[in-house]
Amino acid sequence: MIRLEVKNLNKSFKVYTRGGVEVKGFEDINLEVKRGEFLSLFGPSGAGKSSILKTLFRTYTTTSGNIIFHRDDGSTIDISSATESQILSLRKDEIGYVSQFLQILPRISAVDIVSEQLIIKGESELIARTKAKELLDFLSIREELFDLSPLTFSGGEQQRVNIAKGIIAPKSLLLLDEPTASLDKTNTMKVVEKLKILKTQGVSMVGIFHDLEAMEIISDSIYELKRVN
Ligand SMILES: Nc1ncnc2c1ncn2[C@@H]1O[C@H](COP(=O)(O)OP(=O)(O)O)[C@@H](O)[C@H]1O
Ligand SMILES: [Mg+2]
Repeated sequence: MIRLEVKNLNKSFKVYTRGGVEVKGFEDINLEVKRGEFLSLFGPSGAGKSSILKTLFRTYTTTSGNIIFHRDDGSTIDISSATESQILSLRKDEIGYVSQFLQILPRISAVDIVSEQLIIKGESELIARTKAKELLDFLSIREELFDLSPLTFSGGEQQRVNIAKGIIAPKSLLLLDEPTASLDKTNTMKVVEKLKILKTQGVSMVGIFHDLEAMEIISDSIYELKRVN
């Protein structure tokens, strides 16, 4: 079953601070992702990988082309032309985006940040917190940090909290922009292990990995981009 089809997708930026000059983001992208598949974007810095993910999430608008998302009920929606309220509903229920950076709200603990994702899906607070702690522990976050705000965590610890938040209650399509960028090999492979389980649960993913071994283990297909500028 197809989850996502990207057809002839192009993005160029008008940079107003430079007199409206056009900067190419990416050109003529064609992708297909099935249910439970992981597609990696691969290519040099500046090739447009992050911009593609942001366009799929509609953080960026599409310059031309189509992004067809297939829902579980068989209906489809074109993300490139969907209304703002349709996009908000897709983001709430069906499409998740995990960057390398955790958005930290003051005074909210690591466990609360992660368990919240299950609670908004209707899980009880007790079970949500238990599952959140298990996942944080699996990702090597020390127990003494669970009830603290990630504000003072190291970059790698913040990144692991962010991944836990992004995968604990997975949506049907996850967009992952270098989620393991500052993790060591052991923790990168633990994340890969969790992402593999998500695949068996039918979650589709489009991701960028800087760790090539991790990319090869997790990917069903690899889409190579060349620098366009
Ligand atoms: N918001 C933006 N405004 C202007 N140019 C942008 C913007 N976002 C990305 N770009 C440009 O698009 C190109 C691709 O960038 P990016 O998608 O970040 O590449 P990658 O993730 O592959 O390193 C770069 O030339 C970058 O400068
Ligand atoms: Mg990038």
